[in-house]
Amino acid sequence: MRYWIDIMTLFPDTVGDMMNESILGRAQDRGIIRVETHQIRDYTKNKQCQVDDYPYGGGRGCVMQAQPLYDCWRFINKAHGERVHTIFLSPCGKTFTQSTARRLAADYDKLILVCGHYEGVDQRFIDECVDEEISLGDFVLTGGEIPAMAVADAVCRLIPGVLPDPECFQEESHWDGLLEYPQYSRPEVWRGRRVPSILLSGDHAKIARWRRKQSIIRTRLRRPDMYGKLQFQDTKQERKLLAEIEEEWEEAKNGSEI
Ligand SMILES: C[S@@+](CC[C@H](N)C(=O)[O-])C[C@H]1O[C@@H](n2cnc3c(N)ncnc32)[C@H](O)[C@@H]1O
Repeated sequence: MRYWIDIMTLFPDTVGDMMNESILGRAQDRGIIRVETHQIRDYTKNKQCQVDDYPYGGGRGCVMQAQPLYDCWRFINKAHGERVHTIFLSPCGKTFTQSTARRLAADYDKLILVCGHYEGVDQRFIDECVDEEISLGDFVLTGGEIPAMAVADAVCRLIPGVLPDPECFQEESHWDGLLEYPQYSRPEVWRGRRVPSILLSGDHAKIARWRRKQSIIRTRLRRPDMYGKLQFQDTKQERKLLAEIEEEWEEAKNGSEI
């Protein structure tokens, strides 16, 4: 087993079903990764299996209590025989990016992901057990399950053997600060729209150059923030490509399309 993720949630079946599908499901079957879900409610000590209570100080909604979370977390750590790096999914955390996924895949071989619900989680559990807080973005969801699945998915697909080849993720958006070029599949013409002829040429060098150019243009158009941080290679080919893009960019400003 190369990577093991434990997810603490009130909806273990939903999360488990999703993580057992497709590429991640097959990687689990092959013993490369393991994603295990844990029902926090199983660790309550009251008859009603209640996991939440009113917030001290007043206010709307309920807060998840520290005790069931702590007992569930301790059970997982005990099963592993070590204290596992623990992440609480929270809109107050640092925004998740591809570089976070790369760091988590490289620095750990186990993770615990804690999904909050209701108004959130008693701060004392976070202070006691959580190593970092991760947000999926600047919006609020009803629970941490979708963010936890997003983190688990993004991390697991970087684990060697999960995808057929590292090229599968190294050529994708956000790996090297660029967005991916447009992709096409069969047929050659669909609803009058043709696949760019260069992709049918069989000339691999020209195709690679076209794809890089499309990636650069797309990043410049859609994500000027990312484009501003790009560091281009100081080679004759790269300079030529950038000059070509610049020329087309200027032409586009004057009315014709890139
Ligand atoms: C309704 S939210 C609680 C929001 C909290 N009261 C606040 O204002 O920050 C319930 C749970 O969903 C999860 N959640 C919601 N939005 C999230 C986001 N953007 N990223 C990660 N987790 C999120 C967290 O686990 C959170 O504890």
